[in-house]
This record gives sequence, C-alpha cells and structure tokens, in this order.
Amino acid sequence: MNVPTRWGPYTNMKAIEDKGPIVIERGEGVYVWDEQGKRYLDAHGGLWLSNIGYGRKEIAQAIAKQAEKISWFSSFGGFANRPSLDLADRVIDILRPDGMGTIFFSNDGSGAVETSLKIARQYWKLVGQPSKTKLIGRQHAYHGVSLGALSVAGITPNRKMFEPLLKDVRHAPAPYQNHCSFHPQTQVCNYGCVNELERIIGFEDPSTIAAFIAEPIQAAGGVIIPPFDYLAKVREICRKNDILFIADEVVTGFGRLGKWTGSRYYGIQPDMMTFAKGITSGYIPLGATAISPQIYEAFIKSSTDVPEFRHGNTYSGHPLACAAALANFDILEQEKVPENAAEMGVHLSEHLQQLVKDFPDFVVNAGSVGLLGRIELKLSPDMAPGKSGTIFSNKLLEKNIIVRPVGDVVTLSPPLVINKGELDEMMDPFRQILASL
Ligand SMILES: Cc1ncc(COP(=O)(O)O)c(C=O)c1O
Repeated sequence: MNVPTRWGPYTNMKAIEDKGPIVIERGEGVYVWDEQGKRYLDAHGGLWLSNIGYGRKEIAQAIAKQAEKISWFSSFGGFANRPSLDLADRVIDILRPDGMGTIFFSNDGSGAVETSLKIARQYWKLVGQPSKTKLIGRQHAYHGVSLGALSVAGITPNRKMFEPLLKDVRHAPAPYQNHCSFHPQTQVCNYGCVNELERIIGFEDPSTIAAFIAEPIQAAGGVIIPPFDYLAKVREICRKNDILFIADEVVTGFGRLGKWTGSRYYGIQPDMMTFAKGITSGYIPLGATAISPQIYEAFIKSSTDVPEFRHGNTYSGHPLACAAALANFDILEQEKVPENAAEMGVHLSEHLQQLVKDFPDFVVNAGSVGLLGRIELKLSPDMAPGKSGTIFSNKLLEKNIIVRPVGDVVTLSPPLVINKGELDEMMDPFRQILASL
C-alpha cells in the first residue's frame, strides 16, 4: 500500500491517491495560483475567511516586524504581549455596539467556541445557579472539531464516528427555510423551529440550561439563511429563560454580511461572540471569544488568589497572530471592506436571482446576505440527492473557479475585497455550465 506522509483534513484521501492534492503556491486579491501556474478565482475565500484577499504585503511586514522583536512569550499569569493588548482594545471598540466588553484569545474557531462553552458553565456556578449546565446547539450547525464544539454542532456525519459526545447537549431545529419540516415549502414561515426551541427549553427546564449557541447564518451546513427576525426571536427566548446566547461569528464576523458582525446585521446583542478566520483573514491562526461586561464581572466578583478562569492555550494571544490581526483591521477599516461586501453583496444577489429565473430546471433556489451565498441545484431529475453540489463544483474547478459544495448546495464566500468585474467573472461560469446542461 502506498502510504502518504500527509493526511489531509476533511479530505477523501482515496480520491486523491493517484493525482495528489492541488498545491496552491501563491495568491493575490481574489486569485490563487497552483504549482503548475494555473490561476483560480477563489469564490470561497479559502474556507470562508480571506476577507482582505491574498498576498497583502502589509500583513507579512507586520508579522516580520513583530517576529524581530519577540515572536512569542507566555501570556499566562501576569504576562502579556503588546499586540494582544492593542488588538483586544481594537476589537472591543468594534464590538461595543454588539454589547461586548472583554476578549479572550485562543488559537482557532474550535478553541473560541470551546472557551465560550466553558465560560457559560462556570458563569452559572459563580452566580449561584450550578444546575444550569446543559447546552443547546442546532441541527446543521458547525462549531469546530474539538469534542465540546463538536457536541453542540449538528452535522450528523461529522459527529457519529466520535460518539459518545458531551451528554447534556440538546439540538434545536435549524431555521432552514428551503427545507422546513414545520411547513410545506410553499407556505409562509410559521416559526416552527422557534417554537420547537421554546418547547425543548420548557421540557428540559431553564434551570438546567447554561447556553444556546448559534451561527447567525449556518455556513458549513449549506449557508442556511434564517428569516430576518429569527435571531431576534431566539435571542428573546434565551433572555426570558436566563440562558446565555452565544453567537458563533467565526464565519460571519468582520464584514462577511456587509456589517462588522452577523449579530449586528440581524439586530441582536448576544452575551458572547466567537471569532476566528476573518480576524486575521487567514494569514495566521487566531481565535477570540468576546464576552459582555456582566459575564466578566461575575468572574471578578468571585475572585480569590487563583486564576478566575482555569483555561488558556500556550499560544493564547500569540503576538504574531495579533500583529497580523491588527494589520488586517487597518485594511478592513481604511479600505472600508465591510462596506464593499455590502455593495458587492447586492450584485451577488442580483446574479443569484437571475440564475433562478433563467435556469429553473436546475436551480432549486439561491440566496445570499452580503458575500455569503448559496445555490441549490438539481442537475437532473434522476440524480441522487446530495450529489449535485459536488458534480457542479468539479465543473467549476475545470473553469478555474473554486467553490465549496455542501450536498446539493454550492456555497459562495469570496474575499470581501472582490470588485464588480471579478464578481461577474466568478458568476459567468455558473451560467455557462447551466446553459450547457
Ligand atoms: C461557524 C464556525 N465555528 C467554528 C468553526 C471552527 O473553526 P476552526 O476550524 O478554526 O477550528 C468553524 C469552521 O469552519 C465555523 O464555520
């Protein structure tokens, strides 16, 4: 047997056994090049994250400058590094309208989620309600790979090989308008998923529930866009029942929906928010959990002479990652990147609506918010469910467009610096392929 030395993450190794992976060598703006010199338009922003695009020298320079001073030192105990302090100030300035006051750094999105779940459990112990320990996630949710984050996630194939996961986790239905099990697709939304969340909370008893976690838009689940008032409704249910609301903004944070956060787009203030990906636009891994002042105060009030929160990674607030994030925020702010996402999002939405109109035999539905989009396909009446997305993505790859399929859905998440010409270039191959079917 030919044993490869590298085992790829979420990769069908058998399928790439002969040809090997596509090795991406460099990038610039919305484009990446492989080792053979073939250029691709990255319509997926890597993995939902290249907000400022590829190849920005400012980020490389910021990392190098910091590395020359000190590339790492412990942040445990009473130590810190300057970039992590500056970044905390900067991010909290951005997140004050979302109700956040303090930030805890980790290494990635899974770590940010894990941190939020542990803060939630400890918080209730500190305020004298130790029975509030259960966590509620949602079907189709993606929150990461560590066992806690995976436990609140809701994509069954990702979970089942690793069971048993955390007990005391429940899953509410996703607000999946296009595949709603509470009403036929032709009828208007009756908020069945919201009512079901309320039923679960009542059945479990709110005095046993610590937190509810939700992505403003479920990205990896297939860009599941909720009815506009869904988040406000579930937020209110959590408030009413004293359940902490964690917004997982790993994908939606820092401009993806055309606002700084997905929570702001939907007009809610969570108790905690989790970030990664767009915080550095992928130049170096970094995760962050933002919390409200009320949560921080509960920890400080209980303080003795030991760490209030026995949690942290060796690399929490890594100076190189924080330096990269600061340079990333310079670009996001100076170049008004979230505003560009909002403007380009209008064009994306027009493209998608036109596809639905022009190719009704193949495009089941399509939609987007900012620069996060979905196109659900049925490429032929006899095609097995779940196959259309991958087949279509492979056809797009032949035309040098990179997307990510989720079942029958092709998901879109281009760099937020994309311009109109590039957006047209990204969407034209969709029309060409659909016209040729
Ligand atoms: C919403 C959400 N949360 C958490 C994660 C986990 O992030 P990471 O892969 O950096 O651990 C992801 C990753 O895609 C995500 O989409």
